[in-house]
Amino acid sequence: MDKNIVVILGDGIGPEVTKQSLKVLDAVSKKFGHEFHYSYGLMGADAIDKTGNPLPDETLEMCKDSDAILFGAIGHPKYDNDPTAKVRPEQGLLRIRKELQLYANIRPITTYPSLHHLSPLKEKNLENVDFIIFRELTGGIYFGEKSLNAEGTIASDSCTYSREEIERIAHLAFHFAGKPERRKKLTLVDKANVLETSRLWRKVVQEIAPQYSNVTVDYMFVDNAAMQIIINPKQFDVILTENMFGDILSDEASVLTGSLGLLPSASVGTGTVLFEPIHGSYPQAAGKDIANPIGSILSTAMMLQYLSMEEEAALVREAVAWLLNAKFVTKDIDPINYYFTSTIGDLVSDYVADRLPNDMNRSNIELRKSTLI
Ligand code: IPM
Ligand code: MG
Repeated sequence: MDKNIVVILGDGIGPEVTKQSLKVLDAVSKKFGHEFHYSYGLMGADAIDKTGNPLPDETLEMCKDSDAILFGAIGHPKYDNDPTAKVRPEQGLLRIRKELQLYANIRPITTYPSLHHLSPLKEKNLENVDFIIFRELTGGIYFGEKSLNAEGTIASDSCTYSREEIERIAHLAFHFAGKPERRKKLTLVDKANVLETSRLWRKVVQEIAPQYSNVTVDYMFVDNAAMQIIINPKQFDVILTENMFGDILSDEASVLTGSLGLLPSASVGTGTVLFEPIHGSYPQAAGKDIANPIGSILSTAMMLQYLSMEEEAALVREAVAWLLNAKFVTKDIDPINYYFTSTIGDLVSDYVADRLPNDMNRSNIELRKSTLI
């Protein structure tokens, strides 16, 4: 297959983790005979530095004409600590989501037995945890009217949702929950005891539910959900929620897996689908070859699956599971015995390309371990 992919390296650790995904794609294309054509687009603080605009029109046009977008990370501390900045890196990501109408952000939460001990939660609570968050991505408080009075003393962000915005993501989530491999349970997370928008979410979901009679629906307030994710995460199968609740709960849920650096995501809707790890730009680690590239590599696996390359996607996931099991992990996971970002990228690519011998000589790889260098 021939595919056009826009690569947006972005800020902080974005470039170094995305480069590992490109190595993996290279191995996939060689092994399976695909051609991936890359165009590079700017977005975020990097784009502001080079063009003054967090999402230049060229990037947007490139994205519209491509088969998929692979994105690294966004954000820079110089903007985080300046509440008066009018132009901010994150505006680029928010605008691309809106322009491409990527209204659903899909975040799978998978745990790996070999990493259970790294989670602050009890190991017995982590067994068989496998759920997926469908986060609404182009509405709600993120995109509502904002105001600040002339004195700079009163500010507001309004939260608005329309029936259509709720319906389209709800159908996606129900459809997904009904798939043979899922456990046929959908939990709507909201704050319907307080918020009008949440009551509309509940009403719309209740109306849609009968069309998916094989899926059981459960309703949960967001404060309780935040607690349930920690005390009993295996109860969840598909979580459906609005934009900001989904943002917060998905970072919280990453604790179950052992590291935020492991989690991938796909943003889908009407335009070109965008794949990105859920972690941020982690500026303290940028350029040090210590960031975890697995979130990006698993986002690449989601991209391959979306491009109908099922076998390829499965092989990348198998490579990651093998790596984690063999304790080839980055510093966020093991601060003492860790491997570099680039080594992890090489190992996943080698696995995909069958370059790792069956009786792999671990000591060769040990040479690339941080503590020995
Ligand atoms: C995410 C991020 C973004 C968000 C930021 C960078 C705007 O936290 O993708 O979860 O809040 O949506
Ligand atoms: Mg977030």
